[in-house]
Amino acid sequence: MPKVHPLYLEALGEHFEVHPYAPDAGDEALKAVAPQIVGLAGGGESVIPGSLLQQLPQLKVVSIFGVGYDGVDVQAALARQVPVTHTPEVLTDDVADLAMGLVLSVARQIPQADQHVRQGRWPQGAMPLGRKVSGARMGIVGLGRIGKAIAQRAQAFGMSVSYTARTEKAGSGFAYFPTAAALAAHVDFLVVITPGGAGTRHLINAEVLQALGPKGYLINVARGSVVDEPALVQALADGVIAGAGLDVFADEPHVPQALWRMPHVVLTPHMASATHQTRQAMADLALANMRAGTSGQKLLTPVPECAALAAA
Ligand code: NAP
Ligand code: 8YV
Repeated sequence: MPKVHPLYLEALGEHFEVHPYAPDAGDEALKAVAPQIVGLAGGGESVIPGSLLQQLPQLKVVSIFGVGYDGVDVQAALARQVPVTHTPEVLTDDVADLAMGLVLSVARQIPQADQHVRQGRWPQGAMPLGRKVSGARMGIVGLGRIGKAIAQRAQAFGMSVSYTARTEKAGSGFAYFPTAAALAAHVDFLVVITPGGAGTRHLINAEVLQALGPKGYLINVARGSVVDEPALVQALADGVIAGAGLDVFADEPHVPQALWRMPHVVLTPHMASATHQTRQAMADLALANMRAGTSGQKLLTPVPECAALAAA
């Protein structure tokens, strides 16, 4: 399980006795503290299985530092009447900003250009030409909170925006495509921003990449699981698509070495919400949920599946 963010940990420490959980430490270590545990803290990438929830008889809330909670067994939590909370909205701007940053970085080759100057190659010649972003066509896979914020930014760049989601958003003003493949065939930049988990696993597969085509770019700021990573590596190696900007990966923090070597790929280490301002806001909200959940107060931001339980 990834470590809980230090800002959240520090905030928790001011109000609770905090016990780190190490799955590898074995059942005995957990048994020693389990009867005292009233709240579970995790991050957006944390895996919290039902088997862990079942070992905590006094558990009152699971408070996630992150909007994504695909690693939490929410059904098992619901079965125990334990609500799960997350941190929506407070990170929306940052994630949308980074998505646009990846669009610009990969299309205009900004990291490569920086290396061109630093490595003294400028006097020997110019960089290869990039791809114009303003006025291009953007397709968004997942028009939720963050997807809409990306759409706003794209519009400010004079881009035309279309999208796919589980349901059409009447009144959005953007063209809807029922499948990711149909959307990909229509756009220059395909930006993925859905939740992870079983419902979206490998939504972006070889067929979608083929539809995006040799002039198309893939941007993934969602979860690594949403993209069939081996298919993506193959598509990039074979020129099936033009390039990719990736913040998330299938087996973080491990990134396929084939991607490290590709000049038409920009890689960031799952950092879309990583600013001082946003991480503090996430820590504040996650703590507020933890305090509310452990003291019987109204939760601020339960995940949708737990809204009814939280209201009861
Ligand atoms: P949200 O408001 O719930 O939006 C999710 C969108 O995904 C909705 O439009 C939903 O469609 C769509 N969707 C869900 N399943 C789908 C499917 N099978 N096919 C197509 N579209 C589907 O969530 P959000 O706040 O925008 O956050 C989205 C995700 O971003 C998070 O869950 C997390 O995984 C990721 N994230 C990543 C980072 C990072 O650091 N890289 C940071 C924050 C968030 P409907 O509207 O039709 O239901
Ligand atoms: C964080 C995220 O990196 O909110 C999410 O779903 O993936 C990111 O904001 C993560 O939650 C920190 O653990």
